[in-house]
Amino acid sequence: MATVITFGNFKGGVGKTTSACMTSILLAEKGYKTLHVDFDPQADSTEFLANVHDYELKEDYISLFESLKEDRSLKRAIISIADNLSLLPSGADLVGYERLVHEIVGDREGTEHFVLDAFLTEVRADYDVIVIDVPPTLNVYNSNALLASDAVVVVMKTQRKSLNATRKYLNFIEELNEVRKHYDYNILKVAGVLPYLQKKSSPLDDEIIKAANEEFSELLFEKHILERERIKRYDEEGISFKQMDVHDKNVFKMYRDVTEELLQRLNK
Ligand SMILES: Nc1ncnc2c1ncn2[C@@H]1O[C@H](COP(=O)(O)OP(=O)(O)O)[C@@H](O)[C@H]1O
Ligand SMILES: [Mg+2]
Repeated sequence: MATVITFGNFKGGVGKTTSACMTSILLAEKGYKTLHVDFDPQADSTEFLANVHDYELKEDYISLFESLKEDRSLKRAIISIADNLSLLPSGADLVGYERLVHEIVGDREGTEHFVLDAFLTEVRADYDVIVIDVPPTLNVYNSNALLASDAVVVVMKTQRKSLNATRKYLNFIEELNEVRKHYDYNILKVAGVLPYLQKKSSPLDDEIIKAANEEFSELLFEKHILERERIKRYDEEGISFKQMDVHDKNVFKMYRDVTEELLQRLNK
């Protein structure tokens, strides 16, 4: 049965999509059957994973939303893009999700948060891990993703605003845990707060890490993601896995270390 992990924060541009995608790629490489759910209408994960794996995403692919709307099932949208790695692609049409949720739940108030969880039930047994990428807004996407998840990684850019947003996200998780208790769900585990886009030898970034350490203590990942130019290229050009140079290898090692720590934190 899959462990479902959301990579979240209420702030945009902090590294949620990239860390979620790199985690999916590396878990698949390790042999975990992985499903990556792009739950953001901006479809950044869909583009990133297709680019990285040189997967030709046809213009008329079936999006997660289309499959949900037409079949009340996610299955038809799942595409296999690499060994052990499947993707539930997003598209701009996902902006209609909130309306669809209300159509589905009708006047059963309170159940709107559980719609994604219900839809994931039919695929949970097919995977070891399901990774969800979410938009940076407090709304139905985040509540649905978090209520469908077993664990969450809060991605924190080493910047004061992102630290504050991380605190808010953790509070939101606590509120959702009250909802989970009410419906007899397990408590959502915070797998950790991941320091992201840290600049090497930046006193300001070090200060944020120190403050985060004091506030989140053992929740803070020991391994951090540093700012690396090379990553930005993956969005555009993908990766030639067979011809990785030293920069690619460094980038992969950095994300691999974080993935290993995540598995330890999840006892997987
Ligand atoms: N380790 C990194 N080093 C440098 N740039 C990065 C790194 N990780 C992500 N980026 C870039 O930072 C930007 C925001 O990342 P993204 O993952 O899209 O954040 P979010 O999903 O939180 O909005 C993107 O342009 C991405 O290419
Ligand atoms: Mg994103």
